[in-house]
Amino acid sequence: MIVKREHWGSRIGLILAVAGNAIGLGNFLRFPVQAADNGGGAFMIPYMIFLILLGIPLLWIEWALGRFGGARGHGTAVAVFDYLWKNPVAKYIGFLGVLIPLAVVVYYTYIESWTLLYSFFSLVGGLPSTPLTADVKDYLEPFKHFLIEKTGENSEGIILTPAVETYIFFLITLIINLYILYRGVSAGIEKVAKIAMPLIFIMAILLMIRVFTLTSPDGRNFLDGLGFLWNPDFSALTNPKVWLAAAGQVFFTLSVGFGAILTYASYIKPKDDIALNGLAGASVNEFAEVILGGSIAIVASVIFFGITATASIASEGAFNLGFMALPAIFANIPYGQFFSFIWFLLLFFAGVTSSIALSQPAIAFLEDEFGLSREKSVGILGVFLFVSSHIPIFIKGALGEIDFWVGTLGLVIFALFEAVIFFWIYDSKKAWEELTRDNDIKIPGVFYYIMKYIAPGFLVIILISWSIEFLP
Ligand code: PHE
Repeated sequence: MIVKREHWGSRIGLILAVAGNAIGLGNFLRFPVQAADNGGGAFMIPYMIFLILLGIPLLWIEWALGRFGGARGHGTAVAVFDYLWKNPVAKYIGFLGVLIPLAVVVYYTYIESWTLLYSFFSLVGGLPSTPLTADVKDYLEPFKHFLIEKTGENSEGIILTPAVETYIFFLITLIINLYILYRGVSAGIEKVAKIAMPLIFIMAILLMIRVFTLTSPDGRNFLDGLGFLWNPDFSALTNPKVWLAAAGQVFFTLSVGFGAILTYASYIKPKDDIALNGLAGASVNEFAEVILGGSIAIVASVIFFGITATASIASEGAFNLGFMALPAIFANIPYGQFFSFIWFLLLFFAGVTSSIALSQPAIAFLEDEFGLSREKSVGILGVFLFVSSHIPIFIKGALGEIDFWVGTLGLVIFALFEAVIFFWIYDSKKAWEELTRDNDIKIPGVFYYIMKYIAPGFLVIILISWSIEFLP
């Protein structure tokens, strides 16, 4: 059945929506923690290598698959894989491109709701206010306590019920997400991106300036923080953990291997460009990640706590820099309450424009494959999200488990399927033609080989190393 599908309203709207898709909690929360935990300048080398040899080529593949599907009235890998591979299992493998983002959005939205909660508490002055003490641990303790009390997470493995406010803010966040999706691709997602993206950049630049003008009581300044991230350090390159972390971060931040880029690309016109759009989205994302994301949490933490403490704070928890170190710093600088409010609001906007992207494949699946209306599709999704969110909210440790199995491992497997089905099972010549037609810039010919051999090769190596690292 061919139902008339939606389209993006304008090119700038599309690029902002795609940038909103990519720029998320990954850029401002996950990147600083990954970089600090993996040696700063040591992390950046594999990161850059994977960005070019893995991230960008797979991103272009996903854009091409999306444009291919959209031209045929379909916005998920379910139908796209079925077209490309005449095998009854193809569509079930394609269903991973609906399932993976759906599983991720279940916990992503929950974390996103904390940012709204923290933003609110910063504004009304409800966050702890610790005085500066010599010991970093004492300094962070109240914030750790606040996080545990609000989220119900407890490091001793005791299940705590999250605070009532947390639950309320979660419901508000879920409703905001569903409302945007209900408005649709161009009147909802695109419109929100047009407002949120400029605000994200303004807020991030403001915070960066504030951080760059900080000095610690014992004399550290922003150069110490930047040095940690940007002085190449070749000593850690023999450590496979650093490489795996870099690959994981490149996937997560570019939104590659989820199926979410595929769905966004399916709403362009059949003869629209994908090469420049893909590259533009990736460039904006990288600016937000390594420049802005790297400059706020890492630099601030290095100034106040030093490099060793920053690395150890990061290694102790994925949320420690964003939800503990930063508000603790803001509590001790002039107008800190305001900057804390801006920091969490920035995270919230970045989060929303990503969680709607994670949700859209499910909507596209219901609309395109079952001919359901948008209203019905959003309704079904809403019920599903509401019910399933109770898993990360109430089950201790569930968030981390889903993040590992789906948000780290699952998407590498799905990305491998995308590359192999397109370039090996379908036909590498036809795949390359599909990728390079009607574009505004030329994809360099070397990418043919990268897409056919190097990227899938890397993915296989990553999967093997992971099994060695993590499987019993
Ligand atoms: N790239 C987003 C981030 O950095 C996460 C995301 C993944 C969003 C996949 C949409 C799809 O937070």
